[in-house]
Amino acid sequence: MNEIVIKGGTVIDAQGERRVDVGIAGGVVNEVGPNLQGGRALDASGCVVSPGFVDLHVHLRQPGKEEAETVETGSRAAALGGFTAVVAMPNTDPAQDCVAVVEQVRRWGVEAGLCEVLPSGCLTVGRLGQQMAPIGALAAVGVRIFTDDGNGVQDPLLMRRIMEYSLDLDVVLAQHCEVAALTTGAVMHEGCCSSRLGLPGWPAIAEELMVFRDIELARLTGARVHILHLSTARSVELVRAAKADGLRVTAEAAPHHFTLTDEMLETFDAVYKVNPPLRTPADIAALKAGLRDGTIDAIATDHAPHTPASKEQSLDAAPPGMLGLQTALSLALGELDLDLGRVVELLSTAPAHIAGIADRHGGPVAVGRAANLTVFDPNATWVVHGAHLASRSRNTPYEGRTLRGRVRHTLLHGTPTVIDGEAQR
Ligand code: DOR
Repeated sequence: MNEIVIKGGTVIDAQGERRVDVGIAGGVVNEVGPNLQGGRALDASGCVVSPGFVDLHVHLRQPGKEEAETVETGSRAAALGGFTAVVAMPNTDPAQDCVAVVEQVRRWGVEAGLCEVLPSGCLTVGRLGQQMAPIGALAAVGVRIFTDDGNGVQDPLLMRRIMEYSLDLDVVLAQHCEVAALTTGAVMHEGCCSSRLGLPGWPAIAEELMVFRDIELARLTGARVHILHLSTARSVELVRAAKADGLRVTAEAAPHHFTLTDEMLETFDAVYKVNPPLRTPADIAALKAGLRDGTIDAIATDHAPHTPASKEQSLDAAPPGMLGLQTALSLALGELDLDLGRVVELLSTAPAHIAGIADRHGGPVAVGRAANLTVFDPNATWVVHGAHLASRSRNTPYEGRTLRGRVRHTLLHGTPTVIDGEAQR
């Protein structure tokens, strides 16, 4: 007997597209077919019913920066954005470099009950780049993704040793690619715009050198490496070549990197400051090509809440980062010119595999599978207002923009977390 029926939508997952209802009972998909009966009906007419989205890259700020976000407020933003699972970055305070902190973040996620929160673990103790974190102990409690995000691991010997150590574990090493010596004091992409504005630049090569280094270390060691927030054309080329060589390398791109350019910094508004920085139209074109041809596996938001007070500072003093969870789907639909199946693959199926949760996320929408589902209207338009987003912060770079594509319902293990665009808790 169905407890919930999602009626009148088009299911899109890795198996293709079909006009069917989806019946749910006991947290799993109970029936898929036409004209299903029973239970509560959730209207999906004109909508796509897809596996729930999975975000490989969010900053939930708890513990340590609860004034900017908490696991609960970030999880609510995730659910409203259609996400049923998010990987929480480890640059909390204290950092997620030990079992106690990771377990606490996971517990907060369960208590919030709005999406599955998968804490990442640090690559190095305190994210300081000096000493390997207890990766084995963290993997033993289910941590899959390891990163010092916010920092790249600068020492190639340490990175090599971490890769070698990781071979016995089912883990992914996710690198924030930035050679720090090349970006000291930088506030924006190094190029014509930074020269004109007289602002210190963050050169593309600072990213590309580390992308290259980690690809070569992955070739040497056989480790599984994921490149975070790819932002330059050359980085895309390097990943494409690595894949052609059969290396275990995956990559993600963030919506702001394929929609906004460095010219936004002409406003001197720190809402556009992000790390890596907004780049050029040529970089955007390369990212879009990579998203289309499979070089880039996943769209990940790098949702990075910061308080209004911190973002109202001057460009050099303000922290980098922008909100992303509630705008990702719209930007993917509106700016990429991809078919819906590929968008679902980028937002759900592929990141679920990278995160190691394909047993319960990422589809297919089939009988017996966990009912982690997103129902979205690809044609509905809405206007972005930071103050109306669920995040505790407001630092969206899309303030006032009309976007196309909106999440209508989200279900986590069969329980609606969002109905008709409203969070249920
Ligand atoms: O823009 C960014 N913000 N990039 C990062 O790598 C870190 C993040 C943050 O934590 O705010």
